[in-house]
Amino acid sequence: MNAHDSEKVVGTLISRGYAQVETPEAAGLVLYNTCSIRDKAEQKVFHRLQQFKRDAGKGKIFGVLGCVAQQEGEKIFEKAPHVSLVAGSASYTKLPEMLVQLEQGNRRVTGLSLDTDETFETPFTRRDNPHRAYITIIEGCDKSCAYCVVPFTRGPERSRTSASVLEEGQRLADAGYTEIQLLGQNVNSYGDPSAAGWDFATLLAHVAGIPGIRRVRFTTSHPRDFIKPIVDAIDADPVLCDHVHLPVQSGSSRMLSAMDRLYTRDEYMRRIEWLKNARRKIAITTDIIVGFPGETEADFNDTLALLDEVEYDSLFSFKYSPRPNTAALTMGDQIPEEEKTRRLTIVQERQRAIQIRRNAATIGTVQEVLVEGRNQALGQWIGRTSQNRTLNFVADGVGDEQLIGRYLDVRVTRAGPNSLVGESVM
Ligand code: 5AD
Ligand code: SF4
Repeated sequence: MNAHDSEKVVGTLISRGYAQVETPEAAGLVLYNTCSIRDKAEQKVFHRLQQFKRDAGKGKIFGVLGCVAQQEGEKIFEKAPHVSLVAGSASYTKLPEMLVQLEQGNRRVTGLSLDTDETFETPFTRRDNPHRAYITIIEGCDKSCAYCVVPFTRGPERSRTSASVLEEGQRLADAGYTEIQLLGQNVNSYGDPSAAGWDFATLLAHVAGIPGIRRVRFTTSHPRDFIKPIVDAIDADPVLCDHVHLPVQSGSSRMLSAMDRLYTRDEYMRRIEWLKNARRKIAITTDIIVGFPGETEADFNDTLALLDEVEYDSLFSFKYSPRPNTAALTMGDQIPEEEKTRRLTIVQERQRAIQIRRNAATIGTVQEVLVEGRNQALGQWIGRTSQNRTLNFVADGVGDEQLIGRYLDVRVTRAGPNSLVGESVM
């Protein structure tokens, strides 16, 4: 989401006559896009700002964008007086006006209002990848998960019209993109604000129908709003990739309730059943938080048991990190840091064994990959399967021919915990 926000910001700047440079040293204007989902990400921001100033400060204009900007607001001007612009993502529609103010010499420009029903749409997006493109379909979040800062930094939910999403998708297809990734904090609660009134599953089916688009992915889903028609849509059209990221956070219903996640373990497992009963094999991935306030050994064991039961294809796991404004911040029974670290390691070890097994089960199969890159040192191409696995492969018959951006069938010959190895099928 942040990477795509940056693409939109860069595009907006270029449309106003700015040119992108490779290093902060070469820049006259340095914008730093920031994340505050966990404390570590936030600390990096201030460290990096000081570093920029030391290394490249002379005569430059600095701005802080994103969630740390939204959260810290004008305090950033005090902590880092060389910063001239502080703006959260809900204000990016006003970026052109803010740039004018900077150009006029204003050294305290802010965009901090969350009070908007607009989404940041721009035809000028400067995309980093020539084959896969992100499209934001919904911004903000109306949930209130007890640990999460996002509703405070990205504001309330705003969906784009289905017409503007399809129009952007068609423009991307015309420009040669073949893979689209739909983005939102909770794409499942997408609600078309136009008369068409499409829900997420309907939008998904239509995006998959755009001529020229071969793959559609989406992230992120909230289990509460993940309904069966989404699985039916995936089943009906192979353009919709065989992968769903469905963050569970914990395997304990007691913890899920404390987190205000709005589903129980059983309700979550029902969604897993829909996915496992689909006609195609849909890869399932998740997010796990360990050490949420009050998490007992028994709760933690419920999470481990859930990993064994679901057998995720991959997961992201995090130590609970207290965030400003959130309900969990003031909850009793905070878990000591060493204990969080211990639990995180156990989750990661357990999952590693599961992935070794699941990846090994793909040996011998033939999978279509989108070729994303080349590992010169290993003499391998880097591909990605519909299930979102990395499949590195050799392609003997094709010499040094440029394969990046092409779709190829590859036979899996070896498997590790995090990627597969194979050879192209001629
Ligand atoms: N501490 C730890 N992890 C968090 N996440 C969100 N907020 C926190 C927090 N305060 C994780 C959740 C979410 C993912 C994007 O980040 O697992 O799904
Ligand atoms: Fe945060 Fe929960 Fe919203 Fe996801 S659904 S962004 S975890 S509040």
